[in-house]
Amino acid sequence: MARLDVTETFHHISFPGHLHTQESLSYATGFQFQDSDTLIVTYPKSGTTWMQEALTLVFSKGDSTLAHSMPNWARAPWLEQYYCPEVLRASRGPRIITTHLPYHLLAPALQGSKAKVIYVARNPKDVAVSYYHFHKMANFLPEPGSFGEFLSEFLSGTVHYGSWFDHVKGWTSQARNLNFFYITYEEMWQELRGSLERLSTFLQCPLVAAELTSAQQHCTFSSMKENSMVNYTLIPEEIMDHTKGQFMRKGKIGDWRNTFTEEQNRNFDEVFKAEMQDSQLRFVWESPEKLDSPESLKTRTVTQNPTLQGA
Ligand code: A3P
Repeated sequence: MARLDVTETFHHISFPGHLHTQESLSYATGFQFQDSDTLIVTYPKSGTTWMQEALTLVFSKGDSTLAHSMPNWARAPWLEQYYCPEVLRASRGPRIITTHLPYHLLAPALQGSKAKVIYVARNPKDVAVSYYHFHKMANFLPEPGSFGEFLSEFLSGTVHYGSWFDHVKGWTSQARNLNFFYITYEEMWQELRGSLERLSTFLQCPLVAAELTSAQQHCTFSSMKENSMVNYTLIPEEIMDHTKGQFMRKGKIGDWRNTFTEEQNRNFDEVFKAEMQDSQLRFVWESPEKLDSPESLKTRTVTQNPTLQGA
């Protein structure tokens, strides 16, 4: 299935035809969740792969065998991508499933479900920059043009997978109706160990200190960058052009400052303010001073979000 230049439009949202078909998207919206399922929900470039790795290591109690032997898309397949049914048929034990779909498309499937839903959000300026670079290397995404052109599309929600604003608002508005856990990329960056601990509590899979330490070590940026099961180097050159960039690119908070012009930033802030005026969500936009390494184990202040814990 190459279809690198094909775009699938489903409920007014465009998706890369390389990974999605009308059939696969309909399969997702009609999916029968089991209460034992764990669903990772993200807008692209928000820390999806990081959370896939985190859950793999929490469920394996810090044992990295699976994380180093099976690609992330086989461990935690994207529900809406065409290969998902096959992966799930072959899977044993509790399933980890991933999705980039907006809430309204999965609402009927999740109605009354006790499946655990983990939502990872990231400050949208860093998402936009990361997504832009990903467009340059991923041959199944459209040519992004200049960053300014891409940013306009990102802000108007016409990029693949739709609007970041609709995604984050749609899912977080359902926190009370779902078995829901909200976390940000920035919290994971600042407090990886604490984040893994909170996740393990939510997943009812407590880890002893040594297991937590091992999980933490395998989830660092440097560790994941070297792990071919998550760094996408297994994907052939014609699909992801590794000469144009790396999937594990920078892994920073506040990298947007190196790309946004002042005008782009002002415009972004205006749109953000208008879109998010009724939202309680708070984002960390800058790298906390002197914190340039996610591996550092120092205690840090994490900006608190309102508790978005579900049923
Ligand atoms: P950058 O492009 O800003 O480096 P997704 O998995 O949702 O596509 O997100 C990819 C982004 O998450 C990339 O961001 C990638 O570097 C970052 N990332 C992945 N694993 C990470 C980790 N362990 N620590 C920090 N950032 C990580």
